[in-house]
Amino acid sequence: SLHTVTTMPTARRPGCPFDPPAELIDARRHGPISRYTFPGGKPGWLITGYDLARSVLADSRFSSRRELMLHPYIDTTGMEVHPAPPGEFVLMDEPQHGRYRKPLAGKFTARRMRLLTERVEQITADHLDAMEKAGPPADLVTAFAAPIPAIMICELLGVPYQDRGSFQKQATSFHSGETSDEDQIAAYTAIQDYLAELVAAKRANPTDDVLSDLTDSDLTDEELRGIGLVLLVAGLDTTANMLALGTFALLRNPAQLAALRADPELADQAVDELLRYLSVAKTFMRTALEDVELGGQTIEAGTAVIVSYSTANRDPERFADPHVLDLRRKADGHLAFGHGIHHCLGHQLARVEMRVAFPALVNRFPTLRLAVPAEEVGLRPETADIYGVKSLPVTWDV
Ligand code: HEM
Repeated sequence: SLHTVTTMPTARRPGCPFDPPAELIDARRHGPISRYTFPGGKPGWLITGYDLARSVLADSRFSSRRELMLHPYIDTTGMEVHPAPPGEFVLMDEPQHGRYRKPLAGKFTARRMRLLTERVEQITADHLDAMEKAGPPADLVTAFAAPIPAIMICELLGVPYQDRGSFQKQATSFHSGETSDEDQIAAYTAIQDYLAELVAAKRANPTDDVLSDLTDSDLTDEELRGIGLVLLVAGLDTTANMLALGTFALLRNPAQLAALRADPELADQAVDELLRYLSVAKTFMRTALEDVELGGQTIEAGTAVIVSYSTANRDPERFADPHVLDLRRKADGHLAFGHGIHHCLGHQLARVEMRVAFPALVNRFPTLRLAVPAEEVGLRPETADIYGVKSLPVTWDV
């Protein structure tokens, strides 16, 4: 019989900070698709299996349009849901999505990202120097995991050096799942205003960055602002949490950490395995545009589907011993960057950052360890869009 999940789990099992919530793993055990009841009672679906998740993401009958996606919540919040603002293409379908993605895609090629490697190496070394100089203990989030992706996004967007402090502060405060609604709206508005100014400045005076490049296209200022916002929202918190949670996972798996230290060649594979194992971008929603047969069920037109990337990445039919972190496994094919037309645009950049940062960190501090008991590491609430640690106190021998 068909398994039903009535509410999205709000917590993970104590002592298992890296595993998806037990209810979702349990749902996968019953089958790759479950019934799900949205708040307010609207029926929907929950996809926990790898193959079905992948097929939904590759199927244009499933929409990412914001006004459809949030449909089930209208009843409970009374909020009117509008189409995504111009430029925010992650919440659009074709052809609108492609109109934005196409001109951008050329800026994120593997070649261009390799050129950024040197820059990432420099920034990483600078932050490790600063940590070493200040001495132990340190919060790895503020000292290392948050600033590296923030600086890379600033360089990509061409944010001038003197604006970076305030920019980074605002950008991080609307993510954590903990900031109050008012503060979140205030931070969001401030970032919007800043990006509008930035776009105007790039038009008047182009520099060598993605935003300036795009002023050559037929995109409006409003659209460019939307694109800037998407890059920021998608590229900062995700990578920062991968770096911090990934370090936590390595510290809890000393044999894996030792393997990474011993073998620099392992870095590429290690990054993909950490992405699979941690799946910090846990779930996304899609809405059926027509009736779709899926896993023996009919998803009716207009019905929303929650796709659980984290359990798809722990599907035992796709990955052997899925709950084990094994840096030597072939984890490619994981869904941590999504799949289909919305597959992460910044995956090359994110990969470069992780490939450089993890080995550099663990080699600079051979005695790196948690400065508090593992149970005391503050985790983000399950309700946060992106999973991770709030802070990661670490120490080392000097
Ligand atoms: C889309 C994950 C880093 C830019 C996505 C999606 C996922 C994801 C799962 C698909 C969303 C969906 O299915 O609707 C991640 C993770 C990252 C990361 C885990 C870090 C480890 C970045 C970076 C950038 C970026 C560094 C940019 C600088 C984007 C953009 C999209 C996207 C623009 C939307 C693509 C589209 O709709 O066509 N990301 N991302 N991401 N990501 Fe990333």
